[in-house]
Amino acid sequence: MALLDQLCRFRVLDPACGCGNFLYVAYRELRELADTLTRRIVEFALEGGGLAREGKSSVLPRRLPYIQLRNMHGFDRDVRAVRLARWTLRMGQRQMHDRFGEAEALSPLIELPTIQAKDALVEPWPDVDCIVGNPPFLGSQHMRREFGADYLRWLCKEFGIGIKDYCVYWFRRAHDHLAPGQRAGLVATNSICQNRARRVSLEYIVANGGVITDAISSQNWPGTAAVDVSLINWVKSPSPAHTEFLLDGVPVTGITADLRTPETSTALARPLSANSGRCYQGMSPVGEGFILSVDEATAILARSEANYRDVVRPYLVGEDIAESPRQEPRRWIIDFGHRPLEVAMKYPAALSIVRERVKPLRARNKDRFRREHWWLFGRPYTAVRSALEGLPRYVAAGRVGKRLLLTWCEPWTCPSDLVYVFAFSDDYAMGVLSSSFHVVWARSRSSTLEDRLRYTPTSAFMPFPWPYPVDAGQKEHVAKASRQMIALRQEICVSEGIGLTRLYNRLEEGAYADLKASHRELDAAVAACYGWTRSVAEDPAEITQRLLRLNGEIASGERPYQPFATRAHEGGGQQLSLEIAVEHATAQTMHAGNVAERLA
Ligand SMILES: C[S@@+](CC[C@H](N)C(=O)[O-])C[C@H]1O[C@@H](n2cnc3c(N)ncnc32)[C@H](O)[C@@H]1O
Repeated sequence: MALLDQLCRFRVLDPACGCGNFLYVAYRELRELADTLTRRIVEFALEGGGLAREGKSSVLPRRLPYIQLRNMHGFDRDVRAVRLARWTLRMGQRQMHDRFGEAEALSPLIELPTIQAKDALVEPWPDVDCIVGNPPFLGSQHMRREFGADYLRWLCKEFGIGIKDYCVYWFRRAHDHLAPGQRAGLVATNSICQNRARRVSLEYIVANGGVITDAISSQNWPGTAAVDVSLINWVKSPSPAHTEFLLDGVPVTGITADLRTPETSTALARPLSANSGRCYQGMSPVGEGFILSVDEATAILARSEANYRDVVRPYLVGEDIAESPRQEPRRWIIDFGHRPLEVAMKYPAALSIVRERVKPLRARNKDRFRREHWWLFGRPYTAVRSALEGLPRYVAAGRVGKRLLLTWCEPWTCPSDLVYVFAFSDDYAMGVLSSSFHVVWARSRSSTLEDRLRYTPTSAFMPFPWPYPVDAGQKEHVAKASRQMIALRQEICVSEGIGLTRLYNRLEEGAYADLKASHRELDAAVAACYGWTRSVAEDPAEITQRLLRLNGEIASGERPYQPFATRAHEGGGQQLSLEIAVEHATAQTMHAGNVAERLA
């Protein structure tokens, strides 16, 4: 009876209740539990003869406590949603009446002031026993437009975490609101367990006594919206400690803030300072007017009053890497770099285009640098420019895609903000970056956009522990395997007229056994540099675990770590072996030929 009493006092809150589906399910489940308890109480009473003595067995259930509809609490900003939610609950009450018998009277209609048309982030939340719901998702980049500056200022002040995806604030508030031992279960888009959003939501929960007990890391939202969601159930400060965990339906030893197990989680990997200065997002011109068609670029580059090659560059976007057989840019861009206006004036044909197409828009830009430096890209991009400066080539990868696709770029190419660049020119670095070790690590550390990988340098590149080749021979083995893999890949792409996405789609289907073998060879060479066997490369969980351990050893200072030689010793020019030099020369000639071809 005490248990039934307790159950009937159990209150549930959905702080973004919409039309009340979650509350309806919560009510239904509570009614079912209450029904089970009621039956047991009646059975016990009958067995003990208590009812017979009172002679009132048929009325007993009515005298027992029951779940009240008002135990369901909700907030929604939308008044119509709130009205609907109240009706959903009343209909639920009728259904449960038919299913379990009478509890609370059906008429008059129950008023439900517990479902409130209010902003859940502004209102104080009622005392409840558990919190459920799927709070609204809105990416941080859309919040200003949607809510206005005042609301955003308030959010920043209230939560102290800056502007994050909207649903993050519900996770924090829910956790803060729970008393020890209480539980919450929220649904959110799966970005909640990734990087920026995770740090201020699930990591906050775990760091403040929350224990994730049961979660689905990612599943397709069954509705019309094309999103993947995560389902997260947690308990605050459980006592005794919680020992059973279910992740994606499988019993596990625990669940980490990135919705993995303690054995596979990379959330705790720390940035390695020796990796800095090597990976950057490309540049955003801030003004479509900088971009040129092939014909426009051809016409300008053919002019003789200036060397327009200085400021007119092939412009690389992620799609070029994924789709073009040679991973070549298909557009051009005017890039004055850091040139002051008087120097930009020495390239009049390019400057007049920017003056005409960019300057008028820039004049209205809120950012002072952009208004005053209308002929330059949106920011100076000093770090990325100086990282690439003087390199005979560099590595680029698309920011978002089904796979992490890496390619060589010649220095003339201007990387757009849709690519990441890696400031390396040697085949060894390309080999490590292309190996399963880096690719698997990147996937585990990067956020996803739907099912596409979104590489993030801060979480993927910075903590990535590079290998420890014991000698030049091991390094050269990787370099050679990398050259061979890329040459083979290039040959197939060009002869078939396909880009890397189609190439790897076909490879995954079973085609190009030689390319697959070449990747295996590369993986084995990189594994050897780590001091591991080649079989490690075939086991993603093992890769993540080992790299995570290595990251920890390096970050804690247990292992010295100096993965890169200084630039002068890295193969950036004179130091190249003959073979590499020949390859560079060939690549340069090929590029020059292609450019000439394009300009012809
Ligand atoms: C994903 S829907 C929830 C749907 C709900 N679970 C249902 O069953 O219908 C998110 C809801 O949050 C509401 N919402 C958005 N911002 C809110 C806020 N600041 N306070 C309360 N509700 C909010 C929206 O109106 C929307 O109904």
